[in-house]
Amino acid sequence: MSERVIPLLDQRHPSLPLPTLLSGDDLSAMPLDGLRRPLTDLRISVTDRCNFRCSYCMPKEIFDKDYAYLPHSHLLSFEEITRIATVFVGRGVRKIRLTGGEPLLRKNIEILIEQLAALRTPEGLPLDLTLTTNGSLLARKAQSLKDAGLQRVTVSLDGLDDAVFRRMNDVDFPVADVLAGIEAARAAGLGPIKVNMVVKRGTNEHEILPMARHFQGSGIVLRFIEYMDVGATNGWCMDEVLPSAEVIRLLHTELPLVQLDPTVAGETAERWGYANANGEYDPALGEVGVISSVTQAFCGDCNRARLSTEGRLYLCLFASQGYDLRQLLRDPARSDHELAQTVDAIWRGRTDQYSRLRSLRGPDTASGPGRRVEMSYIGG
Ligand code: GTP
Ligand code: 5AD
Ligand code: SF4
Ligand code: SF4
Repeated sequence: MSERVIPLLDQRHPSLPLPTLLSGDDLSAMPLDGLRRPLTDLRISVTDRCNFRCSYCMPKEIFDKDYAYLPHSHLLSFEEITRIATVFVGRGVRKIRLTGGEPLLRKNIEILIEQLAALRTPEGLPLDLTLTTNGSLLARKAQSLKDAGLQRVTVSLDGLDDAVFRRMNDVDFPVADVLAGIEAARAAGLGPIKVNMVVKRGTNEHEILPMARHFQGSGIVLRFIEYMDVGATNGWCMDEVLPSAEVIRLLHTELPLVQLDPTVAGETAERWGYANANGEYDPALGEVGVISSVTQAFCGDCNRARLSTEGRLYLCLFASQGYDLRQLLRDPARSDHELAQTVDAIWRGRTDQYSRLRSLRGPDTASGPGRRVEMSYIGG
């Protein structure tokens, strides 16, 4: 286990200097980053708190009762989030994902969803508006989320065996309540629903087949995620990573699969469809996905930006520093045009590709202010 983190806010999350705007900066073309990747996906973390303590994300020893979460005044307000989201949509964003921590813990999240659901792309289309949740509050909230304009949800669930799941969430939360949340989401029409399972070798790999059997033919897409070295507190080691290739091999032994084409550019998951007796993809049986950020990095077309709970823009899940957009949002002298120019300038300077570099030269183990931010702070 890594050393105890001293959660001093300013040291914990230093911010990068904002780019200087040039008077000639124009907004006629959408920005491409330094590796020619567009900006199409914005993930917004609405709280750094969670009611689970998954060891791979918010280990109990670190995220205890003394942990310094962000004070309320540091959080972006819904109006600030909507304003900056509008700017991002103007710069190419077509998908917005609300994350956390656990986003359903943010009070009145439905109000934010209503505001975001009203946004339109320059072509007049609605956004792909989605949310990642641990499912614990979904049974209660699914209908109000749908009514507010949320399109779909992705639910995290690491196994069907109650003892395994309770151990992994580390707050003794039962599987049945998450399954009830998924059912409520389905009943409310929050689809297509995806279920994300982080696979840790030696912890829940025996849950792979039961999870696949459970969701096969249900219309819900189960995705297996390689355990990542994100953040600086989960004590990650390669021995606990089960490569996706092994997941696929294991599934194949019982549930034959055929590989499917990607649906959109920059997709995180590789798609595999269940095959019928003739070895052909059977849409009635559905599909699974594998997200292989450790063994097969997908940085090449990474189009994702992340906005932290306090309004810092991070260009990579593994970044240690972000750009303080809140400072601009709270400066009455700044116009939306200037915000858009700033977003463009930041994106154009982006060269992040952590996972690809990790495969080439191994994980980065920086500590102190240079260490990576936590996933509960910038969102998955
Ligand atoms: P869909 O639009 O539903 O396909 O969602 P998505 O796959 O883009 O997003 P989701 O948040 O469901 O991603 C699933 C998991 O993939 C996350 O929880 C992370 O573990 C991982 N992931 C997502 N984005 C990235 C990324 O940019 N880099 C890396 N390394 N992992 C990512
Ligand atoms: N490795 C892989 N995925 C992770 N998540 C959080 N921590 C990790 C990690 N270390 C993902 C899980 C969870 C989502 C909120 O973030 O998919 O469902
Ligand atoms: Fe909470 Fe999700 Fe992190 Fe688990 S993975 S601690 S549910 S934010
Ligand atoms: Fe994108 Fe960074 Fe993930 Fe690579 S590691 S896919 S650059 S977020």
